[in-house]
Amino acid sequence: MSLLKHHGKIERNATLLLGLSFAVVTVSGIVEIVPLFYLENTIEEVEGVRPYSPLELAGRDIYIREGCYVCHSQMIRPLRDEVERYGHYSLAAESMYDHPFQWGSKRTGPDLARIGGRYSDEWHVAHMIDPQSVVPESVMPPYGFMMNVRIDGRYIEDLMRVHRLVGVPYTDEMLENARADFLAQANPDADHSGLLERYPGAQTRNFDGQPELTEMDAIIAYMQMLGTLVDFSTFIPDASR
Ligand code: HEC
Repeated sequence: MSLLKHHGKIERNATLLLGLSFAVVTVSGIVEIVPLFYLENTIEEVEGVRPYSPLELAGRDIYIREGCYVCHSQMIRPLRDEVERYGHYSLAAESMYDHPFQWGSKRTGPDLARIGGRYSDEWHVAHMIDPQSVVPESVMPPYGFMMNVRIDGRYIEDLMRVHRLVGVPYTDEMLENARADFLAQANPDADHSGLLERYPGAQTRNFDGQPELTEMDAIIAYMQMLGTLVDFSTFIPDASR
């Protein structure tokens, strides 16, 4: 009872109330935030998540260049309607190698976090060339020019070095083989053993159906791997953290 009586004093003195509120918020803020400085990592590591292969990384760069993120998000929230439409909610680990992240904040088009494997490569090619040909009511602009822009991976090693600088664990071996892996992924006749060892689960084929290696190959390689790295039939959330 006496404690409550003292509380009455605080409630009647605005300055004291403000001062003590400030003290409480400061202390509790420190208690919440300081431990984070001493944690090595706040992201739970999840089996299957790996850095982007060189071709996927190039596709991701095109995605950013073209501003696809202006209309598309890449984050499925843990809400029932989202999970039913798009699939398992996004895990932090799934974007741990994204610099910058592509979560987005606007959905003019659907979320793309799990677009990988949902459509065929042919569908993607048709959709990118003329979105209205496959979805008549679409307001997405056409990107057919990507079929004509050849790429040869001449700068891909530099791009990967930049990503390594900001924390993506590309190894020296990955950097040495960057261009070879870049070219091999879209070439069905290449030897893919090294590529697959370095980037497990990487999909290898001619993505855009033309003999030339183009930006269309890269963007489709990127689309087709989005959200496919984690096997959700065996994934168990780690509740201990
Ligand atoms: C002006 C907004 C806008 C921009 C920019 C945009 N899109 Fe879209 N996108 C849409 C809309 C709207 C849809 C839904 C209709 C459709 O499928 O075309 C869509 C659909 C898609 C789909 C099919 C999604 C699904 O689940 O069916 C993919 C894949 C896609 N966009 C990729 C891209 C890529 C890659 C880029 C950048 C090169 C891009 N979009 C840029 C608006 C946009």
